[in-house]
Amino acid sequence: MAMLSNEEINNIQRTANIVDIISSYIPLEKKGSNYFGICPFHDDHNPSMSVNEKKGIFTCFVCHKTGNVFSFVQDYENISFIDAVRSVAEKVGIELDVNFKTTSKYDRHYEAVDLANKFYQNNLKSASGKKAREYLIKRGINEEVIEEFGIGYAPSNYDTITKLLLNKNFDENILLETGIANRGNNLYDLFRNRITFPIHNANGKPIGFSARIYEDVDEAKYINTKETVIFKKGEILFNYHRAVNEARRLKYLVVVEGQMDAIRIYSVGIKNVVATMGTALTPDHVHLLKKLNVKIVLCMDNDSAGEKATLANGEALSKAGVDLSILRLSGAKDPDEYILRNSVEAYQDAINNAITFFDFKMNYLKKDKNLDKVDDVSTYINQVVAMLNKTNDEVLIDLTVNQLSEEYGIDKNILLNKIIKVEPVNIVKVEPQKKVRLQKRQKLCELLLYYMMNDIKYIKLYEQELSYVPDDTYIEIANDILAFYLKYNYISIADFITYEIDSNNYELVLSIIDNNAKVELSDNDYVGIIDKIKVIIDEVKINELKEKLKTISDINEKLKITDEIAKLKKRMCN
Ligand code: GTP
Ligand code: MN
Repeated sequence: MAMLSNEEINNIQRTANIVDIISSYIPLEKKGSNYFGICPFHDDHNPSMSVNEKKGIFTCFVCHKTGNVFSFVQDYENISFIDAVRSVAEKVGIELDVNFKTTSKYDRHYEAVDLANKFYQNNLKSASGKKAREYLIKRGINEEVIEEFGIGYAPSNYDTITKLLLNKNFDENILLETGIANRGNNLYDLFRNRITFPIHNANGKPIGFSARIYEDVDEAKYINTKETVIFKKGEILFNYHRAVNEARRLKYLVVVEGQMDAIRIYSVGIKNVVATMGTALTPDHVHLLKKLNVKIVLCMDNDSAGEKATLANGEALSKAGVDLSILRLSGAKDPDEYILRNSVEAYQDAINNAITFFDFKMNYLKKDKNLDKVDDVSTYINQVVAMLNKTNDEVLIDLTVNQLSEEYGIDKNILLNKIIKVEPVNIVKVEPQKKVRLQKRQKLCELLLYYMMNDIKYIKLYEQELSYVPDDTYIEIANDILAFYLKYNYISIADFITYEIDSNNYELVLSIIDNNAKVELSDNDYVGIIDKIKVIIDEVKINELKEKLKTISDINEKLKITDEIAKLKKRMCN
């Protein structure tokens, strides 16, 4: 069971040219000594991400995302660190031991789900899966789609998959923790006599199942894997790993409710589709979709639950600043049925004609109202005005006011007077709060650490002149830099990022790099920084001694301490 060492990872980092790797995802343009591109981690319109080829790091001066080539690939592809390493190694042609294992403590969990998945898939082809197969074919799910989505069949017996996995030496706990088995008197299979749809994480690894009945029985239509250590419901969207590249290419992603809808839409050629599996979008889902930085076409079912889901999910997405369109289907209960009744082309047209979330809400407010009645019109208009009061979009306000005024013959000024002007101040502000004001001392320490991350001569000088800094967290980072240098006998920002990946200070290290990315290193400046930190250290000492003085009564002790303070003060003045 081979494992990748830090040396090997650093070697991959150094072989990979960060500009080449990042350019394979987003276009970069050279300006001065750096490269710039549109940042994929926030809604960027001007190139705000800079890539420093020499240092092997990227940083965005708007959203402050910072990291090395692995962090970029990890976040862009939404995969684990070790998979990002694997992906970069592949790109630069470094062969990794195919057997190399991640150190994930959940390896056995993944293996168990993978085995169960393979078993279900084979089982669909067996005699016992005949009826399930017939059901699928009847629904227009052909062999090819069954293969592509890994659709399977869980046998009706009490504990087939449980026994199989136990025989393969999987712990009972693994079976319970992956949700493959439940505990009764003995362990038994959770999915029995159902069609299984594997659910994958962003790396394409199966982590759970949605399992459907296929006969007319009085049971829940679907049983889905519960939340487990590897199946975080709030973060998973069905089909995400297959859809993500196409979504980036076409710059939009269709989000539907049911996995059957996603399967249908995908298999007729619209591959940029994911399903929420019937749950509301969680903040993690919203974050994931936002990070994708493409337009979201929200297409929930054509019933009142779907309408409510559109309202709730739409609100969450639009609050997060996601570019959003709403697709409401008519004449079919969901996209699956819509495509079967009409055609792919009709569905693609519907996607192209999706409306804004604002228009959806206007339509929603109109529903259940009789707009020939004065009362209803008045309620409707007040509700629309309340919505307009939440927006800063002047064009939208203007268009809507004109429309209302024409439709209902109301004086524009009356409408405009109802709209409270909202100052568009906090819209453009993107600076995260943590950056509002760094204390002077923190700034100095961070600058010092940044120098140290760049060149061993600065580490050596730090050891000679300071050997510590007046802040426990920064001491930890300084010690880590030293440890890196002592272990590998060089220093590089990009490799130090990898080194810190499991440290509590990881985020802080990234923010130090980000805050100082524009600093031009100069030996003279560094000496100045060290001197200033010396003064701070002395100040801290003086304050400590002064505090101590207050608690001491022995006159000789007192004299000793005042003497020490005087010496420190004298040193500070030199
Ligand atoms: P089909 O009836 O096979 O076409 O499914 P659908 O995709 O149209 O599903 P539906 O719109 O009824 O539900 C949307 C999603 O909610 C499904 O894909 C499931 O993931 C989930 N879901 C539906 N019914 C149940 C249920 O009874 N239990 C659980 N846990 N989830 C369900
Ligand atoms: Mn359906």
